[in-house]
Amino acid sequence: MDQFRIIGGRKLKGGVGVSGAKNSALPCLAATLLTTETVTLHNVPYVRDLITMRRLLEDLGARVLVPELRTHRIDARTVENIEAPYELVKTMRASVLALGPLVARFGRARVSLPGGCAIGQRPIDQHLGALEKMGARIELHGGVVAAACDRLRGAEIVFDTVTVTGTENILMAAALARGRTVLVNAACEPEVTDLAELLVKMGARIGGIGTSVLTVDGVDALGGAEHRIIPDRIETGTLAVAAAITGGELEITDCAPQHLEAVIEKLRACGVEIEQTATDRLHVRRRNRLRAQSLTTEVYPGFPTDMQAQYMALMTQAEGEAEIVETIFENRFMHASELQRLGAHLRVAGASVHVSGPAPLTGARIMASDLRASASLVLAGLVAEGETWIERVYHIDRGYEQIEEKLRSAGAEIERVKGGRE
Ligand code: EPZ
Repeated sequence: MDQFRIIGGRKLKGGVGVSGAKNSALPCLAATLLTTETVTLHNVPYVRDLITMRRLLEDLGARVLVPELRTHRIDARTVENIEAPYELVKTMRASVLALGPLVARFGRARVSLPGGCAIGQRPIDQHLGALEKMGARIELHGGVVAAACDRLRGAEIVFDTVTVTGTENILMAAALARGRTVLVNAACEPEVTDLAELLVKMGARIGGIGTSVLTVDGVDALGGAEHRIIPDRIETGTLAVAAAITGGELEITDCAPQHLEAVIEKLRACGVEIEQTATDRLHVRRRNRLRAQSLTTEVYPGFPTDMQAQYMALMTQAEGEAEIVETIFENRFMHASELQRLGAHLRVAGASVHVSGPAPLTGARIMASDLRASASLVLAGLVAEGETWIERVYHIDRGYEQIEEKLRSAGAEIERVKGGRE
């Protein structure tokens, strides 16, 4: 498995471009199952999770053309198989996004129940309960969810908890259901909005886009469309933290500042200078001492859980005490013990971590455990004195497109070492 070797201490300086949002491209690819016409998606990030989703669509029988690296042209006319197999679902939970479209278009679907993962148990009871309310018969056999329904019917769905992929699954299912579906307590993340906008281009009738109450009037069939995936707000935030933690400055391009206002405000409160220099550009610089600021993760538009690990790395270098509270997942502090190996002063107590800084970090061999924890370790490695080796970087490749190339282009001393021990 590949590793990263980082020599810390370099201040980043330069320009870096942001790729398309992984968490928008995944549901948008799943949405192509809803139609027999061609859907073309631009700005699809070249990351492992999208390669997995492409394989899933091909396994189901769709034809996926990639005329150029970040453009996908999908034709799901020939889909016959309605099962998302375990070997794919276990590597990527987002495979569950095939459930809604398959039931909506074919009246049946079989999806392996995604297991838990490093950050938590991650049930899908909200997805299944909503489909049942829409008339689907749901059965669980041998770890496989089997859903069947002649034609889904509209219903009022009130989510007990805000769920991003749950909202996306039901939005896609409702687009072809008979009658009106109202989703209450729906997720408002920009990726949900991006999916809704693609569905509207395909002929879906959706109201309340961008709010927590979505109204969908089902249609009999959806058509093809062409759509550009929004920029990745989490990659944008990660790059901003890279500039801040190294005391450097970055011009971040091809981004959507309006999608990460909570992150920008929090970094400014810590003493990071962030200026929007164009509709798709941010200039990030840190010259003075970092000030510790406490944080609580929230659903959108609050501070995103997917930026919590990166923020924790930053707080190890900030002056003072910060309390970081994770409210979305029950076990999203895997990065804490690895940061401690580098010398960070932090204490985990249930759903919160207390960070004291600044703590001088020194390089060590550390291990990535999940996508965003890996990003946090790379950020810490950029400031740790000496050499840091990060093992199992396949985690980071799931959601970041060549992060080491982007950081090296801004002056970081980071290289990917191929292979290496398991
Ligand atoms: C999406 O995961 C993202 N993944 C995650 O990004 C992100 O961390 C998460 O939303 C929260 O923003 C994709 O979009 C592919 P949830 P998702 O359903 O949809 C509980 C990354 O790093 N819940 O919003 O799986 C759940 O256990 C990944 O890119 C239920 O209880 O998250 C969690 O505590 C990691 N029952 C909370 O809700 C359900 O049926 C939020 O989960 C569904 C969820």
